[in-house]
Amino acid sequence: MTLKGVLNADSAKGTISRNIYGHFSEHLGRCIYEGIWVGEDSPIPNTNGIRNDVVEALKQIKIPVLRWPGGCFADEYHWKDGIGPKEGRKRMVNTHWGGVVENNHFGTHEFMELCEQLGCEPYINGNVGSGTVREMSEWVEYLTFGGVSPMAELRGQNGRKEPWKATYFGVGNENWGCGGNMRPEYYADEYRRYQTYVRNYDGNRIHRIACGANSDDYNWTEVLMREAGRFMDSLTLHYYTLPNDDWQNKGPATGFDEKAWFSTLRKALRMDELITRHSTIMDKYDPEGRVGLIVDEWGTWYDVEPGTNPGFLYQQNTIRDALVAGLTLNIFHKHNGRVRMANIAQTVNVLQAVILTEGEKMILTPTYHVFDMYKVHQDAELLDLSLDCGSYRLDDGEIPAVTATASRDGQGNIHISFCNLQHDAEAKVVIDVRGLAAEGLAITGSTLAGGKLDAHNTFEQPNTVVPKPFDAFALEGGKLTVNLPAMSVTTLELAAEA
Ligand code: AHR
Repeated sequence: MTLKGVLNADSAKGTISRNIYGHFSEHLGRCIYEGIWVGEDSPIPNTNGIRNDVVEALKQIKIPVLRWPGGCFADEYHWKDGIGPKEGRKRMVNTHWGGVVENNHFGTHEFMELCEQLGCEPYINGNVGSGTVREMSEWVEYLTFGGVSPMAELRGQNGRKEPWKATYFGVGNENWGCGGNMRPEYYADEYRRYQTYVRNYDGNRIHRIACGANSDDYNWTEVLMREAGRFMDSLTLHYYTLPNDDWQNKGPATGFDEKAWFSTLRKALRMDELITRHSTIMDKYDPEGRVGLIVDEWGTWYDVEPGTNPGFLYQQNTIRDALVAGLTLNIFHKHNGRVRMANIAQTVNVLQAVILTEGEKMILTPTYHVFDMYKVHQDAELLDLSLDCGSYRLDDGEIPAVTATASRDGQGNIHISFCNLQHDAEAKVVIDVRGLAAEGLAITGSTLAGGKLDAHNTFEQPNTVVPKPFDAFALEGGKLTVNLPAMSVTTLELAAEA
């Protein structure tokens, strides 16, 4: 198959916010405990209780923002349980996720320290479902108030005199479901009330985030924008990719057939339609585009790994997940006008994780490598790339064979990323490169490919799916020809100077 396209290298279409490369970490399974927090006394190398290997790996992919403490956990979390001397912190049952004991050893101070170690922005999600307005208001005061106040004093007693900078604050999570089973009209009013007391202290400007829709619940977006749009900075969207629509039988993470490969990619591609339709509603109430759309939970959701706690949502991660990540990031780029942040679920050991751990061992998943290859697009200018995406058919279904995106970074380097969704066929892409002098360009590439549908990394063989140098391209007479391997994610760099 040969696919033709045009890249207008001198036509920029807005900035790709680095925050769409954000992550989400919840008190769920082994994400926070074991995956991130091991405690100061652990034999696993750590800094103030936080795993060094995980921090280093996340810094490598330039994690820009991290959402915490949930998820459904957020609407059951009472932040005061997680401050003060650890031995005195409340022990409770994590009712939502596996019924395990939560000792609250990872709380506000530990999360803010994690963000400091990572060099990323914190995104804290407050509790509307079972918390009070006062509780939420005091959390913001505790985090950000610099003068004399009860919460600033309490923070000082707990060892932190200076306030933190905390920009992103979510007012509830999935309040249509685990966050209180509310109707949109009711939540819109609750949102208006709670956010009133999420105050800006000492020059800290909070970006207020309202709970948005589940998948294609367009009525939720309509009501929220109509009733509360002017009180929010962003509205969220949650969308998960399941191979089968049946939540009791979603399909396995490995050992699947072509049907599941195809249906997973087809469903992941639906993100484009969802963003387009939610954005259309937002445009009606906010034509200037002031309110951002934050996709703060996305990714694949499979049956848990056999033998693991069903409440822990632990799953393997294959080249199929790498393609879901790549094609989804391509979609986010395309919608850079409205989509200002996204947070893949979840960072470590849960759902479409970029990192898996087992005791002191850590592996990087194929999804991690996509985030690594795509970090060059963070804060870059989206370029006008049109591509005949071809078609990949199975039974009566049809999806694009290839999806692609291009951007120019601050140094003038151009990066083009391609996802070849076909598991059994290469794709030849010929791009007419316009608005760019070819002389003196140095082109390099890397590709992440899978030898089989469920190629993945294990603790025994951690390097089965890793990026490899890629040179199956040529630029001649203004035409860039690229031969993409089957089931691959590929990034090319056209460096400004040889
Ligand atoms: O990411 C797992 C769960 O999925 C989150 O807790 C919840 O917000 C969503 O339903």
